[in-house]
Amino acid sequence: MERRHKENAPVLRRQVLLLSLLSLCCWSASEQIQYSVPEEMPKGSVVGNLIKDLGLNARELSKHNLHAVSVTKMQYFSISAENGNLYVNDRIDREGICDTTSVCLVNFEAVMENPLNIFHITVTIQDINDNAPQFLNDNIHLETSELTLPGTRFLLGKAEDPDIGMNSLQNYDLSPNQYFMLEVRKREDGNKYAELVLSKPLDREQEQTLHFILTALDGGEPRRTGTAHIWVNVTDANDNPPIFTQDIYKVSLPEKTPVGSLVLQVVASDNDEGSYAQIGYHFSNLPANSRKLFSLDPIKGTISLQSTLDFEETKEYTMTVAAKDGGGLVTHCNIEIRVLDENDNSPEVTLVSLFSPVPEDSFPGTLIALINVNDRDTGDNGKVTCSLQDHLPFKILASSNNYYKIQTDGPLDREKSSEYNITITATDKGNPPLSTHKTISLLISDINDNYPSFEKSSYTVYVPENNPSGASIFTVKALDPDMDQNARITYSILHSNIKELPISSYISINSETGALYAQRSFDYEQFREFQLQVKAQDGGSPPLSSNVSW
Ligand SMILES: *[C@@H]1O[C@H](CO)[C@@H](O)[C@H](O)[C@H]1NC(C)=O
Repeated sequence: MERRHKENAPVLRRQVLLLSLLSLCCWSASEQIQYSVPEEMPKGSVVGNLIKDLGLNARELSKHNLHAVSVTKMQYFSISAENGNLYVNDRIDREGICDTTSVCLVNFEAVMENPLNIFHITVTIQDINDNAPQFLNDNIHLETSELTLPGTRFLLGKAEDPDIGMNSLQNYDLSPNQYFMLEVRKREDGNKYAELVLSKPLDREQEQTLHFILTALDGGEPRRTGTAHIWVNVTDANDNPPIFTQDIYKVSLPEKTPVGSLVLQVVASDNDEGSYAQIGYHFSNLPANSRKLFSLDPIKGTISLQSTLDFEETKEYTMTVAAKDGGGLVTHCNIEIRVLDENDNSPEVTLVSLFSPVPEDSFPGTLIALINVNDRDTGDNGKVTCSLQDHLPFKILASSNNYYKIQTDGPLDREKSSEYNITITATDKGNPPLSTHKTISLLISDINDNYPSFEKSSYTVYVPENNPSGASIFTVKALDPDMDQNARITYSILHSNIKELPISSYISINSETGALYAQRSFDYEQFREFQLQVKAQDGGSPPLSSNVSW
């Protein structure tokens, strides 16, 4: 509308000026002539013939001197003085002249002399579809959270087409896609604009950027289009919890694993972005027995050993590790740590009973000790064999349930060996094997199995005659290797070859010392020699005795 005012105002002024100027002369009439021409006609196209349209005689044309009033106003058209044709003189761009005004008129005046006449010429410029719709911004960037609800609308920049009517913008079209629909709406001024409507939930982890082509169409013939690219950036919501690479992490550790060693590493990932994908690890369930043993790096997810393991104490540890992302979503995984046995325990040897002392006359196979052997390791590491040192009259035999019997394995003789230090060696089957030695002390008790024995089988003693009565004349000595009572010897005189008197009137013997005493003074002339027998008897039960002759 505004443009029309501007266009018309000088025209009106000029009309007034002409009227006052020409009224002095022989002004007769003014006529209105209308033409219509499409825009963008080639230069020189004929719009119409003024002579014909004004009903003038072509032969008188030279005398009429038909010409346009204002040259400046006449940039688009020219009038031929020869034939009265109105020609297109310049490019006529309807949109350049009238913008979006629906009726585009160009007004000018032509003057004819003899008689003087002024013609008001109006040329209607017809629109042709010479403009395509165009988006002000042909890259439309939108950003929305992946949690945006279906039904949410996004206003798109509009396209403009300076043509009018059907030649101007009529509709919009959206390239096929699964997430958005296009809705074309009309403003109060009749302009159409488009909105995107979300029809399906978005998922950033599936598609982070969506791209469509928006087409604006006019209704001309042929139809012209303009396009814009729509980029939808789907922003992250913390809709993904961390995910561990495994539900259960299992590891086996030798019990000698050094303190500080890496036990295992848990790894969780998160499909979100930024802090929503930043994962921290912590133990969510750590039994009391594991607290001093294992530590977890909250960032790397590495579990390391803090103290020494002992298979014999705990064979398996289970715990739960949580991964938490920056948005607070938590996922758990289980951890199973098995401890592998190593041969770190020597066999333990316990003396259950010892039958000491053992009599020297015990038969081979007599039980002298019962021992228990135990190894805390498992498998071969806990399997134990027992042995005794060589050259002993004993053997060790497995009994039941880790019990072993030590028995005599030959005759004993206290007089040769009254005491034995028996060393039991218990060895497990580990690699390398571990051994334990235990020594038991066994005493052999005495049995009266030895006779007293005199140093000689017979003795000859010379005694001078006239000896004083009661004089000690000799001492016999018998020995007995037994001990104590079994070796305590009692001496006695058995008999003699003196027939006349009892022997006791000649000789007496001290039963304990074996000392012989003359009971009277011997007379060489009466008898020169006599014989007697002495008996040595030990105190054993039963006693053993020997005789010696004289
Ligand atoms: C047995 O061991 C004890 C103590 O070590 C020692 O005094 C004794 O002489 C040993 N006996 C034998 C027969 O080796």
